[in-house]
Amino acid sequence: MNIKTNTARARPLADNGFAGDVLSGLSAPRKWLPPKYFYDERGSQLFEAITELKEYYPTRCELAILREHKADIARVFGPKTALIEFGTGSTRKVRILLDAANTVEAYVPVDISAEMLWQEARQLQHDYPRLRVLPVAADFTQPFRLPSAIVGLARAGFFPGSTIGNFEPQDAAAFLRHAGRMLGARATLVVGVDLVKDANILNAAYDDAEGVTAQFNLNLLTRINRELSADFDVDAFSHRAFYNSDRRRIEMHLVSGRRQTVNIAGHAIEFARGETIHTENSYKYTIESFGLLAQSAGWTPITAWTDGYFSVHALAKA
Ligand code: TRP
Repeated sequence: MNIKTNTARARPLADNGFAGDVLSGLSAPRKWLPPKYFYDERGSQLFEAITELKEYYPTRCELAILREHKADIARVFGPKTALIEFGTGSTRKVRILLDAANTVEAYVPVDISAEMLWQEARQLQHDYPRLRVLPVAADFTQPFRLPSAIVGLARAGFFPGSTIGNFEPQDAAAFLRHAGRMLGARATLVVGVDLVKDANILNAAYDDAEGVTAQFNLNLLTRINRELSADFDVDAFSHRAFYNSDRRRIEMHLVSGRRQTVNIAGHAIEFARGETIHTENSYKYTIESFGLLAQSAGWTPITAWTDGYFSVHALAKA
């Protein structure tokens, strides 16, 4: 898969080259930082807190859709299936499917964050003693080796959380194609996708009244200060998130409140007053536009379940 790296997106890769990534992003004519660096310990905690905010509807909506339609979703998986989850984090969502799908014989959580992965896998194995839990510590956007223990099982993928929306659309298509190659012929894929909606609702979800999302965004600068001995004056930057309706995406930026120079690993980076660092996008789709994207990547849309806010799509190999 050929992923361009000229724009911000969530790709949970390893932390090698943090300094290089930061310097190259901040040396670009339009400054940006890779969103994968949000998730240090504090960032992961803040993200958990975001998912519980009243304004942040996606997590709540997706959980409700999974609960309401778990039996129908489970029917999409064939008999004797290995369920592979791309970028697992918490196992809260997949548990809903596992409870409904007794045809799932093996569960393969894939995540770059090995420690959380082992911990979640151990707990899940304890709670589902008859399931074969086979964790893989890997960057899910890159080819990885599936456990040999799933040989002979049908394969289904699970990609919740609208993480697909954090890719540029062409990279989202590339990811879906890559997932198709990993899962093989006759595979199915269940994907959570956030929907285009009223801009006020979208704006609030990414700019909550308590300022938790602002803290999450600004924590990136605190992390750069700590790990790269930089001297960002974090108070001189502010969080800005807005829905760009032309591009159907939320954009998150950090805005410099004044003209300033920041030193990072021996490099001086100049900021004009009002200049921004683009830290993340979250693309929104319609049921139809996501179906077309999936089709362009070799998948056939089977069913989409929605509450009008969020959607869960079942895809099958074309
Ligand atoms: N993929 C989710 C979304 O785009 C979660 C997410 C990623 C997020 N980065 C974020 C949520 C930053 C809030 C702020 O909504």
